[in-house]
Formats: sequence, structure tokens, C-alpha cells
Amino acid sequence: MRNLMGAERGSHNAATAALAPFVLSVVTWRRGHLKTGEALMKTIIEPFRIKSVEPIRLTTRAEREARLKAAHYNLFGLKSDDVLIDLLTDSGTGAMSAAQWAAMMRGDESYAGSPSFDRFEAAVQNLMPFKHILPTHQGRAAEAILFSILGGVGKNIPSNTHFDTTRGNIEGSGALAFDLVIDEGKDSQSLHPFKGNMDLEKLETFLIEHGDSVPCVMHTITNNAGGGQPVSLENIRAVAALAKAHGRPFIIDGCRFAENAWFIKQREAGQGERSITDIVRDCFAVADGMTMSAKKDAFGNIGGWLALNDDELADDARVRLIQTEGFVTYGGLAGRDLDAIAQGLTEIVDEDYLRYRIGTNQYIIDRLDAMGVPVVKPAGGHAVFVDARAWLPHIDPLAYPAQALANRLYEIGGIRGVEIGSLMFGRQPDGSEKPAAMELVRLAIPRRTYTQSHADYMIEAFEQLQAEKDSLKGLKVVKEPRLMRHFTCQLRPL
Ligand code: F0G
Repeated sequence: MRNLMGAERGSHNAATAALAPFVLSVVTWRRGHLKTGEALMKTIIEPFRIKSVEPIRLTTRAEREARLKAAHYNLFGLKSDDVLIDLLTDSGTGAMSAAQWAAMMRGDESYAGSPSFDRFEAAVQNLMPFKHILPTHQGRAAEAILFSILGGVGKNIPSNTHFDTTRGNIEGSGALAFDLVIDEGKDSQSLHPFKGNMDLEKLETFLIEHGDSVPCVMHTITNNAGGGQPVSLENIRAVAALAKAHGRPFIIDGCRFAENAWFIKQREAGQGERSITDIVRDCFAVADGMTMSAKKDAFGNIGGWLALNDDELADDARVRLIQTEGFVTYGGLAGRDLDAIAQGLTEIVDEDYLRYRIGTNQYIIDRLDAMGVPVVKPAGGHAVFVDARAWLPHIDPLAYPAQALANRLYEIGGIRGVEIGSLMFGRQPDGSEKPAAMELVRLAIPRRTYTQSHADYMIEAFEQLQAEKDSLKGLKVVKEPRLMRHFTCQLRPL
């Protein structure tokens, strides 16, 4: 068991000092793992005990090297049984609670008017006071429905940073997607407390320039594509006010809303004593709608929703919902899934859970940082992002340093992350190849699935990687599909 207090205290103080230029007067950076008025306990504790376990198959390094070779050096090609700690995504990979499994038995599978839908709708509206709630099978289905109505050729849609599927659905409709995150959000070392914030000046200019071609303003909380960085309540309100002043609907991509609210509570002036539920309600009270993947901050293994206030828009969306997902009271889900999500939404706002979740991420990032591993800072909500370009400067971006790093991490420890760099983004529509803006490895942490000792194991794997890193070689793509090559391409070490 590690003693965390010294290190945690030190790092938070360092972070506070570094934040000062931006936020001295507006932010109090509270230590996330302490409860006010309670004895100081040092250890990050999982606020649950384990009733049911899934074995992890332990493998040797030689086995993993053979598996990776057979998968053509593409981690997506591995069988998950050959992975010890799977950090490919935090989406749908969380552990459900006993109460969620019990709720699933209550699931009513009626085609129309199921009580499971009533419980789902009530749980969503308890946190997000929207008039119309449309269940979908996952987040991208909500996006597809929304942009089939609001998108189209000639439309321009801004966000802090659109997630890939959001961008895909916007561009698929013929519209254009624009990322207007603040400059600090693009600097992996900036310690700004809300690196997911929208640049308000850029947004205002955008709204003036593009006028009626802007069907809505989006905001992603937390900003996944920008490192899981949070958005302040102040920024959400300012974006809402700008959208309103220009007569544009304001839609929040709320996938990680509870993590975002936790950061608001920790980092934003005047929010420290408020409940997570109240903060969440305030975030959504100023929006006209939301898209959601229940596979993140609703503890679902599947699910999502589209929420809207506008009656006409909701009517149109319901027609699309019935065409593509299912009837309005189940969308793309079974009744039991609706009940699991309804219960999950009561658990995700629990502060003991959020303290542990963000605390673990902070813990890993602090230790990697202390070791000299370049990580995106400050800690975001759901993932650790390692800057492979900075750590492996000897590998050319077009030899995919982040893929080389992710692959070696698997060979060393059986840990599976994902490359977010030139392998994912480098291929251009004209067939040429161009380095991506950053070469990152994302290690996304599934919810309630792994423990602190898994975190320590990861850190130990990085210690070994540190010793081996100068020997790492780049890779070459030997076979790739026409689009989205990172999922299925085959690679060879150089
Ligand atoms: N928006 C954000 C911010 C997301 O992170 C995701 C999914 C979606 C929308 C789409 O939701 O998967 O339910 O269709 N992110 C996952 C990830 C896939 O690994 O980051 P979905």
C-alpha cells in the first residue's frame, strides 16, 4: 500500500501555484480525496466492495509479443482475453452495481408505454430538466438523429471540440464542424483548470460571420477529444448566453457530465459547497438540448439519449427515432437497459465515487509526471494521455511513435491503450500522409472496474517502459482499408 499524502499534497500545491496566473481570484483548488471535517485518510479507497469477479488471464511477455505480432501490431486486433488491463475505452466498459443488476430484472419489455421508460425519463429529468427525452442505443445514434434534422450542406456547427462521432455525423450530413476550444486546451502542459472551455471571442466572431447557417452551438463536457478536460459552469453559461443572443439552440454533449461537475465543484469559485446534483442541474438548465452516451456517466454498458425542449424539433426527432432506433418509449434499448441507466444515474453523482474516480486518475498522472513521462496536465476525468512525440523524439511522427509506445506497453504489462495520432488522423482525403497535431496514447479508465493496485501495476509498467524507451522503433503500415485505417490496418516494426 502506498502512502499518498505527501505526494498528493505536493502536487496539488504545485498545481495551485501554476494555476495562479489564470485563476488566482476565482478558483480554489480543493484536495479531491478529503471530506471536509473528517480525519485525513491517505489512501484512495474504492467506495465499493466486490460481489462478483471476472478473472484476468495472466500472460507472459513472450506470449504477448507473439499475440501482438499475430495481430499485425494493431492493438485492435487482439482478443480481449489476451489483455490484462484494458484501457482502450471507458465507454460501456464500467461495472454495474448490484442495484443496477437488480433493476434489470424489473425491466419491462413492452413495446409501448413501458414503466421502464417512465423510470428512465424521470431519472434523466431529475438531473437534466429537458422536456423531451428520446432513448437511443448509444450516443452516436442521438447525434445521427439530431444532425439529420439540423445538419445539411451549407450548415456550420461550432463546439469546443467535436468528438469523432459528432464530427462524423455533422460532416456526414454535408455540414461543417468547427472546434473553438481555448488555446490553453491545445497545450498539453498548460495547467488552466478548465482547458475544455470554449473561446468566447472566437465563438462570437463565428456566430456573427456565419449567421443563419449555424443551426446550433454544441459544447462537449468534459472535452474528450481535448484530453478529457473540463468546462466551467461560467463558460457553459456564457456560451448559452451567446447562443441565445444570436438565436441559436445550445446543445450539450453531456457524456461525462458528472466528472465535469466534480471539476466545477473542485476548481470553480463559489461551487465548492454545492452538491454535484445541483451543479449538474445548473449546467443543463441553460441548454436547449443534449446528446448523451449512457455508456459513460450513466454506468450503462449500452444506451444513450437525445433531449430537447423545442416541441417541433422533438416531433421531427421522434419520427427519425422510430425510423432508425425504435418506438419512442424504448428507442434502441431493451426495457432492462432503461432501468439499468435509471439506477446508474442515481449512482454517478455520488461524491465518494467521483472522489475515488478522479483521485485515481490524478494519482496515476502525478506519478508518471514525477517519473518524467510527459502526460497531458492537469488530470482530466476519464483517461491518462501520454505525449509520445515528446517522450520518443527519435521516432518520426509518420513512423507512429504513439503506436510504438502503446504496443510496447502491451508487451511489457498486457495493458491496452489507444493511439491518437498520425496513425488515426494522418491519412488525407487526397491519399497523402501528414503528421497529426499530437502523438498521444490514451489510457481510458473504465468505471469501477479496476482497483488502486491495477493503477500501481500500470505505473510499474511505465517504469519498465522508461528503461526501454530509447530502444523503441517506429512502424510502417503494410495494409490499410480506405477509411478509418487505425481500426483494422496491419503494421510492421521498422
Ligand atoms: N461524445 C463523446 C464526447 C464521446 O466520448 C463519445 C464516445 C460519443 C459522443 C459517442 O458515444 O460511443 O455511445 O456512440 N466515446 C467513446 C470513447 C467511444 O472511447 O471515447 P457512443
